[in-house]
Amino acid sequence: MIAFSRRVAQWQRENGRHTLPWQNTQDPYRIWLSEIMLQQTQVATVIPYYERFLAKFPTVADLAAADEGEVMALWAGLGYYTRARNLHACARQVVSDWGGRFPPTAADIETLPGIGRSTAAAIAAFAYGERSPILDGNVKRVFARHFGIEGDPTKRAVEQRMWAIAHAEVPADGPDAADEMRRYTQGLMDLGATLCTRGDPDCGRCPVRESCVALREARQHELPTPRER
Ligand code: ADE
Repeated sequence: MIAFSRRVAQWQRENGRHTLPWQNTQDPYRIWLSEIMLQQTQVATVIPYYERFLAKFPTVADLAAADEGEVMALWAGLGYYTRARNLHACARQVVSDWGGRFPPTAADIETLPGIGRSTAAAIAAFAYGERSPILDGNVKRVFARHFGIEGDPTKRAVEQRMWAIAHAEVPADGPDAADEMRRYTQGLMDLGATLCTRGDPDCGRCPVRESCVALREARQHELPTPRER
């Protein structure tokens, strides 16, 4: 069987989204800005904010030099305002600690304020093609179903098993690893957002249906295991 990552990356090439404004760049500043905006906000809402933000602050140095009020005014309406304050603090830290160049690895990116492990990995994958795995809520759902992982994924032990899988499944190293990693990472996000949805997964169009444990056992609606309450 063709590797899980290969099928996801190929599906992304053929069926995924390719024209979002942050997909036509490898500038880590632009990618970082998009990932922070997309954390709790839908793509269609983000696009005009993203464009206005970049028009005003084309580089991380421009953002670092802005005053807080200007940044908050451009964020107004997006919600979750802690993101905007962290964004500004990040920009200042990139200038003060990294000479204005965005940190070069996922591990370094994760030291910036408000950037968690999965977001740091996504930025490094898209900007640098680094083989750093992501694991957000959508990806946890894909993994729980495809690999048949039992247990509440917000629990530490379950999450650790999923990180181990996330590491094991990244595309193999090789001449096209960077492009493959970008496609695979975007493909996992797109799969979770469009086919492997919470309520009614579209298994018939899924590129990894042949190896999906949940589909084989008709347990798509039982996995991931719901949060205990
Ligand atoms: N949500 C978080 N990151 C995303 C991305 N790169 N594309 C689409 N939706 C996302």
